[in-house]
Amino acid sequence: MCGIVGYTAKQAVEKRILDSLELLEYRGYDSAGLALFDTDTEQVEVRKCAGRVSDLRDLCGREAVHGLCGIGHTRWATHGGVSDENAHPHRVGCVTLVHNGIIENFEEIKDHYGLGQYLFSQTDTEVVAALINSFYNGHPRETIRRAVRCLKGTFALVIMFDDHPDVIYAVRNVSPIVAAYIPSGTMLASDVAALGGQADRYIVVPEYTIVELHKSAILLYDEADRRIEPEYYDIDWDTTRDGKGNYPFYMEKEIMEQPDTIRRTLAGRIKDGHISLEKDGVPDQLLADCQRICVVACGTAMHVGQLGSELVRKILHMHMDVEYASEFMYMDPVIDEKTLVLAISQSGETIDTLEALKYARRLGARSIGIINVRGSSIARESDYVMYTDAGPEIAVASTKAYTNQLAAFYALIGRMAVVRGIFDREQEREYAENLLQVPDKIQLVLNRRAEIHKIARSLLEAKDAFMIGRGMDYSILLEGALKLKEVSYIHTEAYASGELKHGTIALITQETPVIAAVTQDDLRDKELSNIREVQSRGASVTLLLREDIAADGIDCDYIFQLPQMPSLFMGFPASAALQLLAYYVSSDRGLDVDKPRNLAKVVTVE
Ligand code: G6P
Repeated sequence: MCGIVGYTAKQAVEKRILDSLELLEYRGYDSAGLALFDTDTEQVEVRKCAGRVSDLRDLCGREAVHGLCGIGHTRWATHGGVSDENAHPHRVGCVTLVHNGIIENFEEIKDHYGLGQYLFSQTDTEVVAALINSFYNGHPRETIRRAVRCLKGTFALVIMFDDHPDVIYAVRNVSPIVAAYIPSGTMLASDVAALGGQADRYIVVPEYTIVELHKSAILLYDEADRRIEPEYYDIDWDTTRDGKGNYPFYMEKEIMEQPDTIRRTLAGRIKDGHISLEKDGVPDQLLADCQRICVVACGTAMHVGQLGSELVRKILHMHMDVEYASEFMYMDPVIDEKTLVLAISQSGETIDTLEALKYARRLGARSIGIINVRGSSIARESDYVMYTDAGPEIAVASTKAYTNQLAAFYALIGRMAVVRGIFDREQEREYAENLLQVPDKIQLVLNRRAEIHKIARSLLEAKDAFMIGRGMDYSILLEGALKLKEVSYIHTEAYASGELKHGTIALITQETPVIAAVTQDDLRDKELSNIREVQSRGASVTLLLREDIAADGIDCDYIFQLPQMPSLFMGFPASAALQLLAYYVSSDRGLDVDKPRNLAKVVTVE
């Protein structure tokens, strides 16, 4: 993953680099570093350490560096453990560089060019620094091009040469690099957020193009070393963050923001009882003609597809494939020009989703991205984009992005039902009205968060937990279980209740709390039998129960009643309750809720 930044200016750059690294920290926070051409010592100085950007800031306070040109990095370890030596930048000879991505053939390169003697870390990146140094002939672009021809894998490389102290060079394959003019100079970074709101337009560096960052010019050179004119994208969205407000963690703030953000996502798509995707430019013909739908996504975004597939079956009477983007290319997917591929992603940068989308498009599929971050790589790669209006999501565990993606997905399926003649006017109006009710129903759950906090306290000592449900409830719980495990470190599995007895029930004891959901009235009685099965093995059970479903005869340790919505919409309030549950377990366990161990917000390596 890793976040990278480069900045050259007519003023000191270290503070801006540190600030930008903090904005990029959601990409990885194992370690951080920067390198500057120091104006006092007149050489490149590197400061780096394992830990957070705040640790790097402290280090730079103790061992000050001042310069007008520098590069920085936040790391999410792939090759080599978390240590000071493995932190970037890496410096070999006259070359200093930072890297995002994975160099698959670094061992071969090391052996072939005899670079072992120059290496102090276990990283693939240091091998690239040594390679470029060994090729260096005084011509940076020529040298970079020669080195890049040796590399297999994905990379965004940002490089400084000692004898070009004012210039930053960069090149990429797949991993993104954007560049922009800012008032004091020029910058490049892994994403627009790192520009800190200082630019109103940016360049996406094309793959294998070398970018040179001078103090007052950004120059691009193609593979034949011809100057090319950059294409600019406007930054017409808010990339700044407004902090945690009165909340101790971003995760809580983001959970609480759901009603407002979903209202924004629905606004413009639902009006006067009509569902319209006009503002997204999605043509009705595409929705009417497609014969297959396929979702490619990862993590929480993939669970939108999981829940969405129930909706697609129930409303459109179609089957929808939902695939882990990381598996998609290796499974010989059945895709043709009548397939509509939906790429769902908060960041728009998840490399597996991006690669799956490109692959599907090569096979002829048409595509719609459901994306939160404007102008991101997946947004640019999609034929059409439905942007969600969740606003910046900072906590690694996705909450508001998920429910906003669901809202956009529901609008899309509603529109498909209209154009395919499945909904008449009255059904469209009713569906639209239900969707507009979602923010208020979520708010009702949020208002009762103290109750959920109480339930969370009963889970604090658990090592394992299970979530069980049927049909849509099972899909809802898949995301609920991911949320709980990623922020609380309690091993949690969501299970289709009926399947439990085919093996997994062997794990149920009084040590394994169970969270069950009953939001679909037709499944109540069957689910109650499954609840009794786990209770008979000693498990305590918390039940999320739709408020209008009869509670008589149900004997659970806790029952949390969910505000009533039609069955198909219950994923919204139920998910809000499950998010709060995960949040309180994590915060009461004293964990770093927003930055769970080993995780990163944006996954840009395969
Ligand atoms: C990471 C994040 C998850 C997210 C997943 C997909 O694993 O930690 O929260 O669901 O990536 O990210 P995307 O940006 O594509 O939605």
